[in-house]
Amino acid sequence: MKKVLFVCLGNICRSPSAEGIMNAFIEEEHLEDEIQCDSAGTYAFHAGENADTRMQKHALKRDYHLTSISRKVIDDDFIDFDYIIAMDNSNYANLLEMNPYTEHKNKIYKMVDFCKNKNANEVPDPYYGGDQGFENVLDIIEDGVEGLIEKIRG
Ligand code: 4NP
Repeated sequence: MKKVLFVCLGNICRSPSAEGIMNAFIEEEHLEDEIQCDSAGTYAFHAGENADTRMQKHALKRDYHLTSISRKVIDDDFIDFDYIIAMDNSNYANLLEMNPYTEHKNKIYKMVDFCKNKNANEVPDPYYGGDQGFENVLDIIEDGVEGLIEKIRG
């Protein structure tokens, strides 16, 4: 079993989308016994909240149901998960700093590391923008999740 943790800033937009998209792929390809995923944020200011309603609306248009409840990354996550995947470059830098275990630093990746389309260098924060930002998040993550599943399955 491989365990994947998707991480963004607030855990209400991008990483819940990555979790929802990954779970849809897992279900479609019957990989429940091989891959598990979760999501978290580097900051706790939305802890306990559902995914942002705008993000949920855009995800639902593609049939993805976002069910996660926001939580902050904890130290044990760096032990428990095999892949800890940052949505943007600032989340990535924060994760490297938050990780107390040098032996686990190679588990920390960026979502775009797994994308086939190399146009994006991160999954940009959609929070203060419009509809196009949320659609862009879903486009990049769909691409990355596909590559991630291929990488995990070898
Ligand atoms: P996320 O988006 O990191 O993709 O969940 C954000 C959520 C909240 C805020 C910023 C980004 N915020 O500033 O409250």
